[in-house]
Amino acid sequence: MVIKSEICEGGPELSRIILGGWRWNDRSFPLSAQHELVNKALELGITTFDHADIYGNYHCQFKFGELLKTESGLREKIQIITKCGIKPVSGKFPERKIPFYDTSSAHIIKSVEDSLVALKTDYVDVLLIHRPDPLLNPDEVAEAFTQLKAQGKVNYFGVSNFTNEQFSLLQSRLELPLVTNQIELSLSHNSPLFDGTLDYLLEHKVYPMAWSPFGGGKIFKNKELMDRLNVFCKKYNISIATLLIAWLIHLPSRVFPVVGTLRPERLGHIAAGLEVEFERQDWYHILKDVRGYNVP
Ligand SMILES: NC(=O)c1ccc[n+]([C@@H]2O[C@H](COP(=O)([O-])OP(=O)(O)OC[C@H]3O[C@@H](n4cnc5c(N)ncnc54)[C@H](OP(=O)(O)O)[C@@H]3O)[C@@H](O)[C@H]2O)c1
Repeated sequence: MVIKSEICEGGPELSRIILGGWRWNDRSFPLSAQHELVNKALELGITTFDHADIYGNYHCQFKFGELLKTESGLREKIQIITKCGIKPVSGKFPERKIPFYDTSSAHIIKSVEDSLVALKTDYVDVLLIHRPDPLLNPDEVAEAFTQLKAQGKVNYFGVSNFTNEQFSLLQSRLELPLVTNQIELSLSHNSPLFDGTLDYLLEHKVYPMAWSPFGGGKIFKNKELMDRLNVFCKKYNISIATLLIAWLIHLPSRVFPVVGTLRPERLGHIAAGLEVEFERQDWYHILKDVRGYNVP
């Protein structure tokens, strides 16, 4: 069973596995399949759902909103994360000629208001600034966050893909705590273990969300790596998806993986990753298997 836990000291309680909505528009994924996926998630204790204004060319949040509308009582059982700050090229916005970032107070507020309409809810649990923006004015972001919090539209705030310095700068201007940094983190994208990102967050007792914990599915296509990892799957009697989640969960940083599968049958394997106890040497062996060399 997936437990809920605080994403930072005094922060919101979120499920240790988070289900992402990025791929909800990728292929045929009708309302019945959405119900099946979300119901399986809830059965396992996965109650937190990750969105962004832009997913599926602004369509994925609407899909989730339709689901919320048809299932009464669902909103109260779940936590919703959404993001803002990216302005991609989109037929919906013909004035945009290139992708760019916008963390102005006006855009943050408008984006949240649009997300609430799309998601058919009155509030989101956590709002993240999607990407660091060189034009980000921390005082303006603070102004937007304060207003959204006061209006009850957003309960908590965080960031995504920020460096430690960017996180620290924004936090220095906020009354409210940044509750997370959602970063790319997986066995195959392991640089945050070594570049100080995880150390900084742990020092501040802020826990990361790990997006694409299976490398967006690409890791499963690396046949040689799969063969090497299979040794440990056999030893612990677990599937490869379980092993990859367990390897992240073993970190002291209290990682919250954000998974993107659309298949309910995979969720049990993912949740099982919370239960595995690796021997320390095996954790390092798995790291060696992906990096190709031992620690010094
Ligand atoms: N903050 C950011 O900048 C950012 C960036 C990217 C993503 N995200 C968030 O992270 C979420 C997850 O990203 P992601 O979809 O790339 O993550 P992922 O969980 O690493 O990859 C999911 C993909 O792997 C495939 N897959 C193949 N075999 C699988 C297996 N055995 N178990 C699980 N999945 C398997 C899935 O296909 P099936 O559907 O067939 O299982 C799916 O296409 C997104 O939905 C979004 O919420 C955030």
